[in-house]
Amino acid sequence: MPDVDATALLALLASCRSVRRFADRPVEAELIDRIVEAARWTGSARNRQPWRFVVVEDRAVRRELSTLGLYAQHLAGAPVVLVLLSADDGRRDTAFDLGRVAQSLGLAAHALGLGSCLATLFPDDNVAEAGRLLGVEAGWVAHHALSLGWPEAAPPDGDAGGRSAIPTGRLGVAELLTRLEP
Ligand SMILES: Cc1cc2nc3c(=O)[nH]c(=O)nc-3n(C[C@H](O)[C@H](O)[C@H](O)COP(=O)(O)O)c2cc1C
Repeated sequence: MPDVDATALLALLASCRSVRRFADRPVEAELIDRIVEAARWTGSARNRQPWRFVVVEDRAVRRELSTLGLYAQHLAGAPVVLVLLSADDGRRDTAFDLGRVAQSLGLAAHALGLGSCLATLFPDDNVAEAGRLLGVEAGWVAHHALSLGWPEAAPPDGDAGGRSAIPTGRLGVAELLTRLEP
């Protein structure tokens, strides 16, 4: 176990919010590699690692991807999009595994000062279109993509800064946790 400050680590976990607006600043390929290097150690059911990743910087492809989900617009404005491919294996655990690795990717980006936001690609026709666009091999599907970039410095007054209209608060521990009394 690396020598990390637990308080700082927990604060990092709790402070990871979605970022949908990005500065006009490139993200070095080395940083993407570091994010994937950290995330690839995520555990998965039976260690299947049912994930692959496609880095997309091309503006036209990002624009196309941004039309393949109802709330995927932020993919167009991010300098980098990491498309998450899931094994199309029908296994119960695959979506769960993908959620875990997506969380690792977002947290690793946050630790490096980068912002990120997931986008859900749907319906199935759009998932198929994303596959065609990216030349995805048979057996893999692109249900989600992650915007990555340096967060925009400060949104203009009255601008939500790309945040969605969805409230960002959370249920409290008391609402979430029950204890089975002995
Ligand atoms: C599985 C999943 C899918 C999501 N899909 C989208 C999406 O399509 N578009 C989007 O803008 N945000 C998407 N989000 C981000 C959520 O809206 C966001 O995490 C939630 O509102 C809480 O806000 P926060 O991440 O800023 O704390 C998704 C998040 C998850 C976990």
